This record gives sequence, C-alpha cells and structure tokens, in this order.
Amino acid sequence: MAKQRVLSGVQPTGNLHLGNYLGAIRNWVEAQSEYDNYFCVVDLHAITVPHDPKTLAADTETIAALYLACGIDLQYSTIFVQSHISAHSELAWLLNCVTPLNWLERMIQFKEKAVKQGENVSVGLLDYPVLMAADILLYDADRVPVGEDQKQHLELTRDIAARFNDQFANPETPVLKVPEPLIRSEGARVMSLTDGTRKMSKSDPSEMSRINLLDSPDAIAKKIKRCKTDPIRGLSFSRDRPECTNLLTLYALLSNQSTAAVAAECQDMGWGQFKPLLTETAIAALKPIQEKYKEIIEERDYLETILREGREKAEISANDVLGRVKKALGYSKPL
Ligand code: TYM
Repeated sequence: MAKQRVLSGVQPTGNLHLGNYLGAIRNWVEAQSEYDNYFCVVDLHAITVPHDPKTLAADTETIAALYLACGIDLQYSTIFVQSHISAHSELAWLLNCVTPLNWLERMIQFKEKAVKQGENVSVGLLDYPVLMAADILLYDADRVPVGEDQKQHLELTRDIAARFNDQFANPETPVLKVPEPLIRSEGARVMSLTDGTRKMSKSDPSEMSRINLLDSPDAIAKKIKRCKTDPIRGLSFSRDRPECTNLLTLYALLSNQSTAAVAAECQDMGWGQFKPLLTETAIAALKPIQEKYKEIIEERDYLETILREGREKAEISANDVLGRVKKALGYSKPL
C-alpha cells in the first residue's frame, strides 16, 4: 500500500527555537519513515511581515540545513523552498477567489499579528492562511504535522478544500484532498521563558524568551538562569504554575523522559537544583544538531543539490494538482 503523504513547513524568519523543534520538526523526524514526506521552507510567508531582503536567501538556507541537521532523512523526505515552485503563488490566487473574506478575518493569528503592525498590516498577512492551504493542497497531503498554534489554519485549509470540491467537483471525484492535522499533545505549545502564559515565538522582541537551536551553551545557560519561575518549593506540573509546567515539559522532552518520571524526579527540587539540570540537558540535546548543522552549512554545493532535486520532485505533484484545479475552474490549456 502507498504511504500516506505528509507536508509541513517553517518560515525563515529569524532562528528556529525549541517551540519549532519540539512542536514540529522533531515530530517530523520521528514519524518520517511511516510517510512520504514533503518539507518546505515557506519563504513566501516570510514577507507577510516586514523582512530584510539582504538576509532572506541565507535564512532560507539555514532552515533547510537545520531540517537536515535535526534528522530529516532524504530517503523518506523531500526538502524544498516554497518560492522555487510558482504553483504555490498561483494556487493561492485561485483559492483566494473561493475563500470568503470573513473566514480570514476570523483567524486568531492574523488578529494578533495585525495589532502589532497597526496601519502597515499587509493584505498578504490576511491572506497568509490561503497560501498555507495552497502549500498543503498542492501535495495531496493526508497529514500535516504542526504545533497547536496552526490548528485554526488547518481547519481553514480543510474548509477551503471542501468548499472547492463542493463548488467545482463531483462528490465521487473530488479535486482536492482534505487533509488531517497531526498535532501531538506533548510539545505542541512550548511557552516563553519570560512568561509561561505566552507561547515561545520568533516574533517576541526579547531574545531571553526563547532558546534557539543554534544558541551557544553560554547563551542557553544565561537564558535558563534568568527565566521566569515561581516561589513555590518542590516542582510540579500544574495549571496554576505555567512557568514550572513549561520548564518541566522542556526537561521531559529534551531528556526523552515521560512527564510522570520527571514529576517524580523533580518533586522535591528547588530552582537552584533544577535550572542547572535543565541547562545541561538542553545543551546536550542541541549539541549534535549544532555540529551537524555546521558541517552542512559549510557544504553549500551539497545543500543546493538537495534543494534543486527537492524542487524537481515537488514540482511534479504541485503542477499536477494545479492542473486539476485549473481544469475544474474551466481554464483552457496554454497554447
Ligand atoms: P512557523 O515558522 O511560525 O512555525 C513552524 C512550526 O513550529 C510550530 N511552533 C510551535 N510549536 C510549539 N510551541 C511553540 N511555541 C511553537 N511555535 C511555533 C508551528 O505550529 C509550526 O508547526 N504557518 C506555518 C508555516 C506554514 C505551514 C505551511 C505549516 C506555511 N505553510 C503548510 C504546515 C503546512 C507557521 O506558522 O510556521
């Protein structure tokens, strides 16, 4: 039986942090042998907020190199850059015309990011989820592994696909495959180090709020040393202790232990004992990724070959789906 198809992506805005890793990439790596995977670097999404043209290409390569460094295996997975395949932009336009505006206005992430942008908020930011739907639907993806914050965008993708099929296809021969989200319970929402009630985010102005995958051991130690805690003695997973719960969760995930084992190990600890333990664990978990990253990023030709081959393979699926969509919409073939 053919393997189910997986598609996911990360934006090349700033550094990848532990939220991106534990909420998404690590899960891609763990499950990759079960699926036929497509992982893209979503650089078209990166310009929905102000960006620096001087660093976009290098940031895109960094993310692709980090996919490999985290363990994405080309035997099971295809890695490519979203902007290298023009079908993404084209399908986004076609889907724009079947997506009601009020579906986009309801998106929580748009509302949150739009507040920060004020008058300068772009149409692209509003349209971000339609481009994301195009990314997914172009590959007939069965599953989309993401963190909790993307759940609403995946529901929208499902709604857009269903609406398109409803309007332009026979029920027996749908044009677009309706995908399922794949959101794990652990790590799906890694919180900020400076506020346990907010998610760890690339757009947080404070570097102290997140641990980046490429942070030096010193930077990791400093961030954990200064991170927000609470004055209660003995550590526990508890709804009333967001910072404590987040730090214990990070420790459990990075040391590959169950929450029950961590709860038992840390129940009598104070922060003075726990923080060095978490620091040591985080540094050790990131060390192999950082070493591998260094090797890959120094071999530019290798990375370029992977991205070129990835594009060639991904383009086949993308162009096939785009052709189906255009046919269903009634377009003629180019002469
Ligand atoms: P991005 O780059 O913001 O996030 C990449 C992935 O990291 C997850 N994530 C988190 N998980 C747990 N805790 C956190 N604090 C945390 N922060 C981020 C995100 O859920 C995501 O899985 N819109 C997507 C990019 C995208 C995409 C796609 C994803 C574009 N097209 C198609 C899947 C399929 C995003 O927000 O990326």
